[in-house]
Amino acid sequence: MSASKFIDTKRITVHTLQEMKNIGEKISMLTAYDFSLAKIVDAAGIDIILVGDSASNVIAGHETTLPITLDQMIYHASSVIRAVKRCLVVVDLPFGSYQGNSKLALASAIRIMKESGAHAVKLEGGEEVAESIERILKAGIPVMGHLGLIPQSIYKFGTYTVRAKEEAEADELLKNAKLLQELGCFGIVIEKIPSELGKKVAEIVDIPIIGIGGGPHVDGQVLVLHDMLGITKDFSPRFLRRYLDLFDEIKGAVENYVSDVKSKDFPNEKEAY
Ligand code: KIV
Repeated sequence: MSASKFIDTKRITVHTLQEMKNIGEKISMLTAYDFSLAKIVDAAGIDIILVGDSASNVIAGHETTLPITLDQMIYHASSVIRAVKRCLVVVDLPFGSYQGNSKLALASAIRIMKESGAHAVKLEGGEEVAESIERILKAGIPVMGHLGLIPQSIYKFGTYTVRAKEEAEADELLKNAKLLQELGCFGIVIEKIPSELGKKVAEIVDIPIIGIGGGPHVDGQVLVLHDMLGITKDFSPRFLRRYLDLFDEIKGAVENYVSDVKSKDFPNEKEAY
């Protein structure tokens, strides 16, 4: 594990993350959706687990993040919460649980906090969700923003290509980042934008900026766990670094098991009662 000034910190909070940004220590964040993997990720010293609505893709096999429900997010979040001892757990508000109705947004955020025991929520967008963010924050629930490529709006964008390459969209993103800070968000995820813009965002706001395809100059990095472990084999965006090739490793192990069962090699005497 690399040196962290917070190695002895028993619980990562939103304040720890702010301290990390203040002293220039990068923040590590990964997704997790279940007890067993969350336990490993937390034990490895991650700062934040995001129970992302990417569960819709990597757990449920949907093409987009839109179908996942609030009940399903709460199920995943509860499983993760039961596993972690140290990291901060942030849970995505799913599509349809906050857009256009700040009372609904608050009710959804309260359900996540109350029923799963999560520590914070994340939602996508800027000015258009400002009222929802304000209302959730007023209830004492920490909120993380998400700008740039926002997958819940994929049908508006049309593609998953890099966002904010043009000046107008970049300016809007910077404006929204400032707004999210003013509203009181404790951090912002920025997804798939040019590195130079990522750098600018991290400079113009004081709160932590966590990038996924946002370049090296932001305050921390997030990846989808199944992508960085190589479980999802057919997803290879430029920003992804794979640390394992678990698809092939697991496939190999299962092939060996099938072969051992078929050949009657398993179970042997020692493996039987
Ligand atoms: O749902 C998710 O996994 C996310 C990350 C891409 C940041 O929002």
